[in-house]
Amino acid sequence: MRDLVVVGAGGFARETAAAAVAAWRVRGFVDDNPALHGTIRSGLPILGPVDSVAGMPDAAVVVCVGNPRDYTARQRIVQRLGLPGERYATVVHPAAVVGAGSVVGPGSVLLAGTVLTADVAVGWHVAVMPQAVLTHDDRVEDYATIASGVRLGGAAVLERGAYVGAGALVREGVTVGAWSLVGMGSVVLHDVPPGEVWAGVPARFLRSTQLQESTS
Ligand SMILES: CC(C)(COP(=O)(O)OP(=O)(O)OC[C@H]1O[C@@H](n2cnc3c(N)ncnc32)[C@H](O)[C@@H]1OP(=O)(O)O)[C@@H](O)C(=O)NCCC(=O)NCCS
Repeated sequence: MRDLVVVGAGGFARETAAAAVAAWRVRGFVDDNPALHGTIRSGLPILGPVDSVAGMPDAAVVVCVGNPRDYTARQRIVQRLGLPGERYATVVHPAAVVGAGSVVGPGSVLLAGTVLTADVAVGWHVAVMPQAVLTHDDRVEDYATIASGVRLGGAAVLERGAYVGAGALVREGVTVGAWSLVGMGSVVLHDVPPGEVWAGVPARFLRSTQLQESTS
C-alpha cells in the first residue's frame, strides 16, 4: 500500500479519503485554512497547508477541491502545485465498476456505485460522484466534474472542466463544452457550447458562466 495525501478537507475530499482507504494508506488532508491545521476530520489529521505536499515526496496526491460555485479550483491548485504527473493517484472506490477498454487518468476519483460500462475515457483530475453511469465510448476530459446520479448516453463528450450537476441526463453523442455547467436534474438533448450554464428539461441556455479564472 502506498501513502496518499488528499488536497482539501471539504465534502469531496472527505468522500475521496473514505473511498481510498481500501487501496491506499491515507495520511490525511492538506488545506489552506489554518484553523483546521492539527484538527481531525473524518478520523484523519489535517497535516498542514496545501503546499506542504511538496515536502512529502513519497506520498501520492489527489486534489479534491471545488464545488458548483467554484469548479475551476481543482485546476488552479494543480497548476499551483506543479507536481510531476506520477505523483497523482487515481482513486477508484471498490464498489465502482470500470468496464473493459475504459481508462481513468491520474488525479481522478470515482466514488461508490459509479459505472463505466465499456471503452470510456476519463482524463486527469476528473471528479465522479456516487452512482454516475458513463456508458460506451464516452469521453470525459481533464478537470471535468460529474455529480451524483448523472447518466451519460453513449459517445457523449464532456470537454475540459465541464460540470454536470446531480442527476442530469446527457443524450448519446452530445457534447458539453469546456467549463460549461449543466444544472441538476437537467435533460441535455443538444450540444452545450463552451462557457455556458444550461438547465431544465429539456436543458436551455440560462446564462454564461462568468468564471473568474481564465480557463484554458
Ligand atoms: C443551474 C444552477 C448553476 C443555477 O444556479 P444560479 O445561477 O444560482 O441560478 P438561480 O438559482 O438563480 O436560478 C435561475 C433560474 O434558473 C432556474 N433553475 C436553476 N437551476 C435549475 C435546474 N437545475 N433546473 C431547472 N431550472 C433551474 C431557477 O428556477 C430560476 O428560474 P426563474 O428565473 O424562472 O426563477 C444551479 O441551480 C445548479 O443546478 N447547480 C448544480 C447543483 C449540483 O448539481 N450540485 C451537486 C453538488 S454535489
